[in-house]
Amino acid sequence: MAKAKTAYVCNECGAEHSKWQGQCTDCGAWNTLSEIVLQPAAKAAGAQRRAGYAGETAQIRIQSLADVAQNVESRTSIGIGELDRVLGGGLVEGSVVLIGGDPGIGKSTLLLQMLGSLGTRLSGLYVTGEESVAQVAARAQRLSLALEPLRCLPETCIERIIEHVAKDKPNVLVVDSIQTIWTELLTAAPGSVSQVRESAAKLTRFAKESGTSVFLVGHVTKEGGIAGPRVLEHMVDAVLYFEGESGSRFRVLRAFKNRFGAVNELGVFAMSDKGLREVPNPSAIFLSAHAGPTPGSAVMVTREGTRPLLVEVQALVDQSPLANPRRVALGLEQNRLAMLLAVLHRHGGAAVYDQDVFVNVVGGIRVQETAADLPVLLSVLSSFRDRALPDKLVAFGEVGLSGEIRPVPNGEERLKEAATHGFLRAIVPKANAPKKGKIGEMEVVGVERLGDALDAVV
Ligand code: TYD
Ligand code: MG
Repeated sequence: MAKAKTAYVCNECGAEHSKWQGQCTDCGAWNTLSEIVLQPAAKAAGAQRRAGYAGETAQIRIQSLADVAQNVESRTSIGIGELDRVLGGGLVEGSVVLIGGDPGIGKSTLLLQMLGSLGTRLSGLYVTGEESVAQVAARAQRLSLALEPLRCLPETCIERIIEHVAKDKPNVLVVDSIQTIWTELLTAAPGSVSQVRESAAKLTRFAKESGTSVFLVGHVTKEGGIAGPRVLEHMVDAVLYFEGESGSRFRVLRAFKNRFGAVNELGVFAMSDKGLREVPNPSAIFLSAHAGPTPGSAVMVTREGTRPLLVEVQALVDQSPLANPRRVALGLEQNRLAMLLAVLHRHGGAAVYDQDVFVNVVGGIRVQETAADLPVLLSVLSSFRDRALPDKLVAFGEVGLSGEIRPVPNGEERLKEAATHGFLRAIVPKANAPKKGKIGEMEVVGVERLGDALDAVV
C-alpha cells in the first residue's frame, strides 16, 4: 500500500498544518497538534462512486428543495423510552451517536440493553474492544436479555471491523469504545487523538454510506470533554453524556448536541442489580431528604429539555484563609457563579469576597440554564447568613448584571410542577408570576429586583 499522506491538526480549533509545530499558528494553543491521515482525492472519489453518491452518469444539478424527494428520516423506537426521548424520538437510520461518560457510569450496560431491546426487530452488532466476548455475554445474561439476537465482535482494527460489518450489514452498530480502535494507516498508539479521529471518521463514512446507525462509546477526560479532538464532536450527529454521582444510583443521559432533536434533553435512569431501569417520572428525585429546612439549601425548578425538574442547589460559604478565596461550582458554570457573586455584592449588599464559596447541584446533574441564578444566590446567602430558607419554597429566575430579575421560558409549567409536589411558596420573576398570585395552594411572589427577592426570604 502506498504510504498515506499525513497532516497535523489542532485539537483545539481543528486547523490543519503540513508540519508539526509546538504552537498552533491559527489559535495560539500549545502542544495541541496531532497527526492525521489525509484521504487521497482519487480514492475518495472512487469510494463515493461505489457508494452510489455521484455515479459517472448521475448529473449534479441545482434543484428546488420542493422537488427533492422528501427524505424523511426514518426513525425506529428503541423501546427504552428515556433513550428514545434523548435521541429526539428514536433511532435515526445512518446516524452516528457518541456517548460519553466516566468509566463505570453504565455506558456499556445501556448500549447492551439497547441492542437487547431492539431484539430481532433490527439486527445489531456489538464491537467490543474493552471486554472479552465472555464478559459481554455474562453481562447480557445478568441483564436477562435474550442472548440469541445479540452478536458480538471482539476486534479493534478499524479496517477489519469495516470489512466485517460491510459483509454483515447490521442495522445498528455499537463500538465500545472508540479509544480502543486503531487504523493501520497510522503508527500512533490506540487512544491517541489521531487514531480516535481517523477511526471515527471511517465509521462515520460507513454509517452514511450504508445507512447503519452507529453508536460510539467515548471516555471522558479529566477536563470533562470526550477524549479525542474537539472535531470528534463535529463529526457525529449527536453527542450524549451519561452522568451521575458516584454514590447515587441515578444516572442522567443528556443530549449535548443533536442534529435530530432538542439539546439539553434529559433521560433519567436508575442503576439496579438488573441493569438500568428507566425513571419516566423523575421530577423530585434530585431533592435530598432533609428532615427540615437547612441553611444553604434552595430548591429550583429547572427545565432542561422538555420537562420540568425539581432540583436542589446547595451552597457552603465559609471564611477563607486564602488571599484568593475559592469559588467552586459543581453542576453549574464556574464563571456564572463568579458573576452572580459580584451581583450579590453590588445589588444584594452581601460581601463574600473574603469567603470560600462552594455550590453544588444535588444528584450529579448539570444545570445550564440561567433560571438557576436566583436559587443559587438564595442558597449562597442562606449559607452566608446561616439562616435556612422557609420550608417548601421554590425559586427560579435569571439575574442580570444590574440586579434585575429576568423572566425565564415556561414559567407556568414550572410553577405547576412545584405546586404538584407540595411546595407552598415560590419566588419567581414578576413576568412569570400569575396575576392572582397563586397556583393551586402555592403562593407565588413575583419580584423585579434581586433586593426584593432577598428581602422576601432570607
Ligand atoms: P458499565 O456499563 O460497565 O460502565 P461503562 O461502560 O460506562 O464503563 O457499568 C458498570 C457499572 O454498573 C459497574 O459499577 C456495575 C454496575 N452494574 C450494576 O449495578 N448492575 C448491573 O446489572 C450491571 C450490568 C452493572
Ligand atoms: Mg464499558
